Amino acid sequence: MQKRKILVTSALPYANGSIHLGHLLEAIQTDIYVRFQKAIGNECYYFCADDTHGTPVMLAAKKEGITPEKLVERIKEEHYTDLVSFYILYDNYHSTNTPENKYYSEDIYNKLKSKNHISEREIEQSYCNYDKMFLPDRFIKGTCPKCSTKDQYGDGCESCGSTYSPKDLIDSKCVICNNTPTLKKSKHLFFKLADFEVQLKKWMEEGNHIDSGVKKKLSEWFLEGLQEWDISRDGPYFGFQIPGEIDKYFYVWLDAPIGYMASSKNYFDRVDKEKFDEFWKSKEYEIVHFIGKDILYFHALFWPAMLMGADYNTPSRVNVHGFLMVNGEKMSKSRGTFIKGETYRKYLDPEHYRFYLASKLNDSMEDLDLNFSDFILKINSDLIGNFVNIFSRVSTSILDKLDRRLGNINSEGEVLINECISMRDEIQKYYDSRNYSKAIREIMKLSDSINKYVNDNAPWNLIKQDKEKAREVVTNTLNAGKILAIYLKPVLPMITERIFRILDIKNTSFLDINEKIENKVIGLYEFLSVRVDEKAVEKMIEENKVSDIEKKEEKTPINENGLIKIEDLSKVELRVGLIIEALDVVGADKLVNVKVDLGEKGIKNVFAGIKSSYKPEELKGMSVVVVANLEPRKMKFGISEAMLLAVGKDDTLSLFIPHRGANPGDLLK
Ligand code: MSP
Ligand code: ZN
Repeated sequence: MQKRKILVTSALPYANGSIHLGHLLEAIQTDIYVRFQKAIGNECYYFCADDTHGTPVMLAAKKEGITPEKLVERIKEEHYTDLVSFYILYDNYHSTNTPENKYYSEDIYNKLKSKNHISEREIEQSYCNYDKMFLPDRFIKGTCPKCSTKDQYGDGCESCGSTYSPKDLIDSKCVICNNTPTLKKSKHLFFKLADFEVQLKKWMEEGNHIDSGVKKKLSEWFLEGLQEWDISRDGPYFGFQIPGEIDKYFYVWLDAPIGYMASSKNYFDRVDKEKFDEFWKSKEYEIVHFIGKDILYFHALFWPAMLMGADYNTPSRVNVHGFLMVNGEKMSKSRGTFIKGETYRKYLDPEHYRFYLASKLNDSMEDLDLNFSDFILKINSDLIGNFVNIFSRVSTSILDKLDRRLGNINSEGEVLINECISMRDEIQKYYDSRNYSKAIREIMKLSDSINKYVNDNAPWNLIKQDKEKAREVVTNTLNAGKILAIYLKPVLPMITERIFRILDIKNTSFLDINEKIENKVIGLYEFLSVRVDEKAVEKMIEENKVSDIEKKEEKTPINENGLIKIEDLSKVELRVGLIIEALDVVGADKLVNVKVDLGEKGIKNVFAGIKSSYKPEELKGMSVVVVANLEPRKMKFGISEAMLLAVGKDDTLSLFIPHRGANPGDLLK
């Protein structure tokens, strides 16, 4: 099969707000697609950026007393940190306030202008004499002319749903200074969209660029007639000056999609200079956009028309998703369901959100509901109870008793493995067409089969009579499980990476699913993922509710008299842990990375600040006291899942060890 060459983008988040779970829906949908394309051997790039221009950003910066450039730089860092913490793997995350974007905005505008696709005329708009600026619709409030509801924005009424021009608002006020705006004329520039009607219709009809639901929406717009699009704004405005004009700027939506080009230009200039023209000018390359349904007009009409007019490639695909709802309703600040990425991550695992979304996403524009009871169920029973279970049940103590060595796959194993491999084409088709929910459903069915095989063969009993037979069962199971891990890699990059590390394999793309793991000693078990705690969800929603009103004070369980209740103590699970491995952490001067065996609680990975008085060699084999139920914490060097108890510091630091013989996992009383 010929390698496809695909340039993928998701919409550029505005620099005037934080990344929330709705943005992340889009980023995760896109990231799964990109990781999948890479996993089947296609040449695929993922580009994004922050969308930085416009009045809201300009005013937000003014309020903080900094330049808009400073503000967008900071927001970009925040956005990027949030997005990456959900394991979104960009090839480049750029900004629209960059030289590349200025260059291509001017280039496209100049080409459109020279071909007579730009017109100009005077229009009358609301102007604030006090702030000395034209006011965008959202910066004017007043009484709705239709239903008389007070305090409505200039573009439409939230109470009766009517839309109107800000001039029609009764008793209108400038949102910034509360003075009454006046009307003022000025010259504006327009992009003549209708010039491209025939070409756009052709683009819509041919080449599978959009899905049928999207086509329906576009046809309605064609029927209504394509209007000229106002692409200029008067200063003061944070944006690019329009060449040949005085104090006029490109409207933010003109340079925003050009940001896709700019981000790719910035990347290819560093990596492979030829590639930019290949993607944006040659036909064998694909350009695939992921967007939400609210910005369809821009991506399916304005953007392709701009590209047509300036002789660039038009999008090969515009993939449109619906909106994220939470517990059946629109995200709401007062209900605590307007959840920022940063808040989610404090309480819950980003990979769990990826899995949940994947199990629900399809190729339609329908909204997707994040229902938290469903979320808990899907993670705990499908992800942990089904998929992760394959590995945790056969690669912990059973495999330890077999010296962690795999044997040969037998005929039963072949059957199981073939069942998994036989679904490959179908699963690929589902990923490629954004029907992730169907892919997950098939993978879960296979996972059921593997778990059934383990149940039927009960290697934990078998090992008592026939060690070698047990080894075969474990070998079959892990080989079949490995195939599912490859299938799930685009969705669960971290969990599957840990699985691959345990299995000690490097070739983990879809092209490698036929490779077998036999007759070799595999790695130690690593903790793969924990169940979702219902309380964590409650706490997250609670924090959201309060955080907008006032920051909640941390409550400690200590009474006024400085004492704690016995129930408070019982929250802490102290257990004996046997250190089975201890390693230096390169780059950390205080930490040792240990693996502690907690018996029935499994093996946990811990980063302990004990290097000042213990050498890794002397730790191995030592029994210590461990806080066993600590929430896993992500540290710079990895995840720490428990804590070792110690007293003192620096070279007097001393670990607690049980005085007489105790077994790993024994509970302290
Ligand atoms: N800056 C523009 C996009 C410019 S692209 C050239 C913009 N920014 S946005 O921050 O408002 O939205 C970015 C993307 O997130 C859009 O595709 C939008 O549809 C999506 N979402 C924003 N809120 C969303 C939900 N609640 N649910 C799902 N997607 C949502 O639009
Ligand atoms: Zn004003």
